[in-house]
Order: sequence, then C-alpha cells, then structure tokens
Amino acid sequence: MTPDNKVNDLLQQMRLAVENARAANAYLPLPTASTSRAEALISSISSEESSQPHTLILLTHELMAGIETRFGIKPSSLVQRKLVRILNDMPITAMRDWVESLKNCSPDHSEWQALAENLTVQETYFCRDPELMRMLTEDILPYLIAIRKKQKKLQVWSAASSTGEEVYDLSFCALRALQNTGLGQCVNGRFLTESGWSVHVLGTDISYQALRTAKAASYSDLGMGSFRNLPQDWRIMFEDIKATPTHAVPRVNYFKIREWVRQCTRFERFNLMNTQPPALGMDLVFCRNVLIYFGDPAKKTVQTMLARAISTGGVLVLGATVKMLVPEYFESRQGKGGPWYVRNDTRL
Ligand SMILES: C[S@@+](CC[C@H](N)C(=O)[O-])C[C@H]1O[C@@H](n2cnc3c(N)ncnc32)[C@H](O)[C@@H]1O
Repeated sequence: MTPDNKVNDLLQQMRLAVENARAANAYLPLPTASTSRAEALISSISSEESSQPHTLILLTHELMAGIETRFGIKPSSLVQRKLVRILNDMPITAMRDWVESLKNCSPDHSEWQALAENLTVQETYFCRDPELMRMLTEDILPYLIAIRKKQKKLQVWSAASSTGEEVYDLSFCALRALQNTGLGQCVNGRFLTESGWSVHVLGTDISYQALRTAKAASYSDLGMGSFRNLPQDWRIMFEDIKATPTHAVPRVNYFKIREWVRQCTRFERFNLMNTQPPALGMDLVFCRNVLIYFGDPAKKTVQTMLARAISTGGVLVLGATVKMLVPEYFESRQGKGGPWYVRNDTRL
C-alpha cells in the first residue's frame, strides 16, 4: 500500500466512524497513543475538508469538557450527537475559532447558555413517581410540619424545576398536608392557613426557556405531556376554565394552575454547579432526574451545595437511582417511595 493509499484509507475509516456515530449515537473516544501515527498523517494533509471528521471529534470533546466543568453534565453519546448536529453546519475554521473563543467564558455567557438550553433534557410531568409522592404526603410533610411547628413556615426548593410541574406538585402537596393536619383550608379559591403558617416554594433551573413556561403556569394536554400521570384528586390544582395562553397551539386544551397553588411559588435561574445556594434555611429540597446526567465529582459538588442550603432537620430527596455522596451531612431514611435524607447538624 502506498502512503497515499494509507492516508485515504485512514480518512475513509474516520468518515465512517463519524457517520456511524451520527447514525448509531455511539460516543467516539478521543484519539489515543495508538492513533498518533494517524494524527501525524492527518496533520500532514493540508486540505481542510479532509481533516473535518477528526477535528469535529476533537472539538466535540473540548466542548463536552467545557460543559461538564460549567454545568456538571457529563460527556455522553447523547451530548456528542447534539453537538455534532450543532457544529456540522459550521465551516471548519469558524468551528475552531468559536470553540477557542468560548474557553475563557463563564457559564453565564450567552453562547454557553445557548448550549445549555440545547443540551439539557427537560422531560417532566405532574405527579412523576406516584410512590415517592405518596411518601412525600404521608411521611415527609407530616414529619416537617411537626418539627417546624414553632417556626410555622415551610421553605421548599425544587432544584432543577424544568417547566415547573414539580414546583406546583410540591406547593399543592404542602398545602394539602397543612389542610390534612387541620392547619389550613381552601376558602373561595384562596388557601387560608391557621395561626400564621406559610409555605414558600422556589423553583430554579438553568434554562430560561423552561423557567418562562414554569412562570406562565399553563399546561397543555397535548400527547405525552404534563398530565400523563395526573391522579383524579389532583385535578383541583387546575382552573376549570380552559385558559388559552399566547402562542397557543390551535385545537389544544390548556389548563392553568389555580391561584392558591401558584401564590406560594417563585422561580429563579440558578446553576447547580454554583457553590453557594440561592437561599439558606430550606426545609425540603427536591433534586430529581438531573444528577443522573452528572459525573460523580459534579454530583458531590451539587450535594454539598444542597447540604449548605438545608437547615438541620430538613429533608433532601434525590430520587431512587442517585447515590448520596456526602453522607456525613445526612441521616438516611428508606421509605416505600425510595430514600430520603435528613440534614444533621454537621457544619459545612
Ligand atoms: C429532566 S428535568 C427534571 C425536572 C424535574 N426535577 C423532574 O424530576 O421532573 C432536568 C432539568 O435539569 C436542568 N439542569 C440541567 N443541568 C442543570 C444545571 N447545571 N443547573 C440547573 N439546572 C440544570 C435542565 O434544564 C432540566 O430542566
């Protein structure tokens, strides 16, 4: 085989690898020592077009590393596939310059923000994981109401709230738990609490788009949407009248969260990789279906930040599949709906 044939052969293999990655969603590893000969051959080729597949792989790796540092999201075939799609239309020199220009930018820079919007998974719906919600209503909230009877206040945080369903679930369940213990009731569309009890639910997310939907509090019944799992007795959370928001899809029904559930809620943009939480003194924090996308070091950073946000006796819920990586700050409890963690008094 002549050197030219070898080069062509190698390039053909790389093109195929990239095509296969696009098609099969395979995660392409960075070139290793065994490919250094290949790299040498490639760098000897001046044609930009010829080195594109190799450059594309290198640049997606650089971007994935930047994304992991800034947002915690670990490199994966899904992230790589989305990046290849984003980069694919760019000329190769523009691609390199763009990635280079991002290196020293903070996570709040608009380009990183745009990447975060495109790369995050915002899947969510009301009453996700009914067993967990039952445990919340029957075990966690009664426990919190009992230990906070002096303060008469519940501070709740949904720490990756996406389009808001979890925030309204938490508000609804907390108010219902107060009602069940005789500490509040809904009168004429307003929730009245006995002797000064109050509930505050904060929803945060990295995505401005998701936060906009959350604040609008209108949800459609289109396809496998927000209502796919809604129990019959949770329907009282929504307006009877179908409210049609601006930019509504024709012939789709929209339902608005009732004022008494909305009045306890607020939303803010917050990156979970920040070391300081958006507020302290939390009694209950839900951080579900987000750390599954993070590597262990990032998970630990986030869990430490959450421990800082939660006051002694407060509760953290991570979902069943996420391992607790800072057990020194929590006492673990196992319920029918999965594990929950009670903050101990170890200082951070
Ligand atoms: C799959 S949704 C989970 C929504 C909800 N917690 C649930 O369980 O249904 C994951 C959310 O995490 C958000 N997210 C991902 N990385 C984040 C980060 N670094 N900081 C804040 N939010 C992030 C995404 O924007 C997305 O809305």
